[in-house]
Amino acid sequence: MARITAGLTTSHVPAIGVAWDQGQQNSEYWAPVFGGYEWTKKWIADEDPDVIILVYNDHASAFSLEMIPTFAIGCADEFAIADEGWGPRPVPTVVGAPELACHLAQSLILDEFDMTVINKMDVDHGLTVPLSLMYGSPDVWPARVIPLAVNVVQYPPPTGERCFKLGQAIRRAVAAFDQDLNVQVWGTGGMSHQLQGTRAGLINKEFDGQILDNMTLDVAAIRAISHLQYLRESGSEGIEMVMWLIMRGALGDDAEELHRHYHVPASNTAVGHLVLRPTA
Ligand code: DHB
Ligand code: FE
Repeated sequence: MARITAGLTTSHVPAIGVAWDQGQQNSEYWAPVFGGYEWTKKWIADEDPDVIILVYNDHASAFSLEMIPTFAIGCADEFAIADEGWGPRPVPTVVGAPELACHLAQSLILDEFDMTVINKMDVDHGLTVPLSLMYGSPDVWPARVIPLAVNVVQYPPPTGERCFKLGQAIRRAVAAFDQDLNVQVWGTGGMSHQLQGTRAGLINKEFDGQILDNMTLDVAAIRAISHLQYLRESGSEGIEMVMWLIMRGALGDDAEELHRHYHVPASNTAVGHLVLRPTA
């Protein structure tokens, strides 16, 4: 049977991808950002997951105001790297896991989550930056990836509670898949950041710290955070953190923290990263 062995969260700031691609890993500004991922790089080489269900948001690269799926699952054989305005990032094509993805789509839809099935999609920094942070610059990505895109760009995004329940449904679906697969779930985005308006640059370390703590200590408290609280406390783009709850729901009732990294600033964003292991 397939099993979810671990989950992780990470910010997906596009400037991290640019810094990586330009070889700025050891610069004064970026070294503390990348340094917090060294532990995870060694850990993931040992864990060697077969498939990553990678929860992220498209930033008007594959979708636009013409099409706004709330939850979309990538069922294709592969996903090209999006051109976000300055050419696609020089990273490998993302290879999908269509059998598991189609099983997930069926299981989730019959479990009353109305997923949009995506058979062709380019993937942007929301998905590729986390892969670069965990795997560096390989010739091919070591794991197959199922992109799970969440609308957190255009009102109304899903609630955190809804995201958590989707994660629980993913856990049920993976457990019912009849292939021996080591599956990880990644939740990307966050932490506090606002990219525009008079509050641009907003960082709330206290709020971010509570989220990092409560991913293991009190998930109910995070599930209850409303859209307005995210907006007020963590800036307009802090809402990306609802995607962390999909990952957390997929780990089951209890999880332990294996690794944590928090650093300000990276571009406009507080970078937060957790590695979690289900314990129940
Ligand atoms: C930044 C962060 C993001 O999550 C994003 O999608 C775009 C920009 C930033 O901090 O620059
Ligand atoms: Fe983002």
